[in-house]
Amino acid sequence: MCCTEQQPPRALPRLGEPAPPFEAVTTHGVLRLEDYKGSWLILFSHPADFTPVCTTEFIAFARLYPELQKRNVELLGLSIDSVYSHIAWVRNIEEKMGVKIPFPVIADINKEVATAYGMIMPGESRTETSRCVFIIDPNGIVRAMIYYPLTTGRNMDEILRLIDALQTTDKHKVGTPANWRPGERVIVPPPATQEGAEERMAEGYECKDWYFCQKELKVEE
Ligand code: BEZ
Repeated sequence: MCCTEQQPPRALPRLGEPAPPFEAVTTHGVLRLEDYKGSWLILFSHPADFTPVCTTEFIAFARLYPELQKRNVELLGLSIDSVYSHIAWVRNIEEKMGVKIPFPVIADINKEVATAYGMIMPGESRTETSRCVFIIDPNGIVRAMIYYPLTTGRNMDEILRLIDALQTTDKHKVGTPANWRPGERVIVPPPATQEGAEERMAEGYECKDWYFCQKELKVEE
């Protein structure tokens, strides 16, 4: 992204760093990032109200919402539309598809939040946000980012899997392998010293070699 003399470059969100603060008009009133302190937040953007792929996503996010709540995760949508457009669209989804949208949606008509989070990809569209997902932890730190193009609806299973993986990592200080699902074996972080490597094979994990060890998590863990 470039800049003019009047507009210095913005620092876009980066993993492991504080999420950009915001105060925004939403369908549930004015909300700020700090309102979510203590819970996980999925902040996601969609290109525009009253469009078909976005409608399928809103229905899917609404269906995912109860599972997210069990995990202390809140949802917050965003697009560059007015709050009146958002209200009309969520009412239309409820009326035509029978699905109530339980989460707030930011009306980012001045593009402030979209710009702070780098949600506008001018190569795709200058007037719409791409399908971005920011997972922000209870301390306000950006933990994961997903970007999908305008034409591809997101995979809710993957978003839930990512939440489960991040929460498992935080709770147990482990990694999760490719395609991991809750209940499967996790990765023991590789040792960082030669001495640790020597000890690792004797620690009782299932090891292919000193750097590649897995373990089961106990059911109650
Ligand atoms: C849609 O949600 O259907 C959509 C939105 C923007 C571009 C293409 C598709």
